[in-house]
Amino acid sequence: MSLHEFLASAQEQGHADADLVSVIRALAIAAQDIDHLIRRDGLDENLGSEIGGINSDGDSQKALDVRSEEIIINHLEGQGAAALLSEEQEDPIPLNDQGSLIVAVDPLDGSSNISVNVTIGTIFSILPSHGDAKAHSLQQGRDQIAAGFFTYGPQTTLILCFAKTDDVVTFTLDPDGKGFLMTGEGLQIPTTTKEFAINSAYTNHWFKPVQKWMTDTLDGQSGPQGKDYRMRWVGSLVSDAWRIFQRGGIFLYPADRRQGNETGRLRLVYEANPIALLAEKAGGKASNGYGAILDMTPEDLHQRVPLFFGAASEVDRIENEHNQERDD
Ligand code: AHG
Ligand code: MN
Ligand code: MN
Repeated sequence: MSLHEFLASAQEQGHADADLVSVIRALAIAAQDIDHLIRRDGLDENLGSEIGGINSDGDSQKALDVRSEEIIINHLEGQGAAALLSEEQEDPIPLNDQGSLIVAVDPLDGSSNISVNVTIGTIFSILPSHGDAKAHSLQQGRDQIAAGFFTYGPQTTLILCFAKTDDVVTFTLDPDGKGFLMTGEGLQIPTTTKEFAINSAYTNHWFKPVQKWMTDTLDGQSGPQGKDYRMRWVGSLVSDAWRIFQRGGIFLYPADRRQGNETGRLRLVYEANPIALLAEKAGGKASNGYGAILDMTPEDLHQRVPLFFGAASEVDRIENEHNQERDD
């Protein structure tokens, strides 16, 4: 089944309205353009080159960060979204006055992996429009109408869910020009795996709950977990997330003592929230260490948050470490 057919049937069943269908179609076309651009990286231009700009979070922008955002804006114009919230812009970008939706995006996730031939992606969260720029940005993750992300890797993929159903669906871009075709539905994060994803280079900067979690984990078979784990860290949230949705385990990007990371590194509105909705729909969990990501009320469009997601039992374990610390 094509994405096109899937969206038409979702509309027929009342899971998506015309605005939502138009927005997801536009994002899928944008993703195909971004994918094409990435496949030509180094042939016409160097997409990993820093272009001298600084985004809203103080990260230096690469050519592909900016080009991806431009492509997304171009395709969303005239569709069902009133505004775009983007990692690359301080404020909302107005799109279509008549649109009933807000799209929040990380146009290009995994910037450090551009030009090294490692999977990168685009993350999106779709929210209702409330007619006011500030109100758009500060909605809880539970208000999301749909969420998903694209990966640009050996395969170009899409994982998608709607608030109105519990179905998490996946698509792969057909290299022979047939667009995105469905490859999976009813996706559930496997409950029994032994993989974790964390950048352990920051061990000395972590706070106690994460250090304790790591010590117990590394104790393996003879430790409290009674099993040996494997570690994977791609360095692109989308790629680590795709693996966890397929193969289980847990992703951790905690807050740490580094300057600017005291409340985490990843962004709540356009990174953590969409992943969290997908994780819950797929039977897993997403937490900031103390509670569900989706229950947080953002105070700022670019707010950072600690992020732990994956199989429910694994997320419960890291939450327990945080709660124990609070009791001590
Ligand atoms: P972005 O490229 O949108 O700024 O996001 C990069 C994020 C995320 O994809 C990844 O999980 C994380 O940064 C990697 O951080 P480290 O380099 O600290 O490992
Ligand atoms: Mn990102
Ligand atoms: Mn980004």
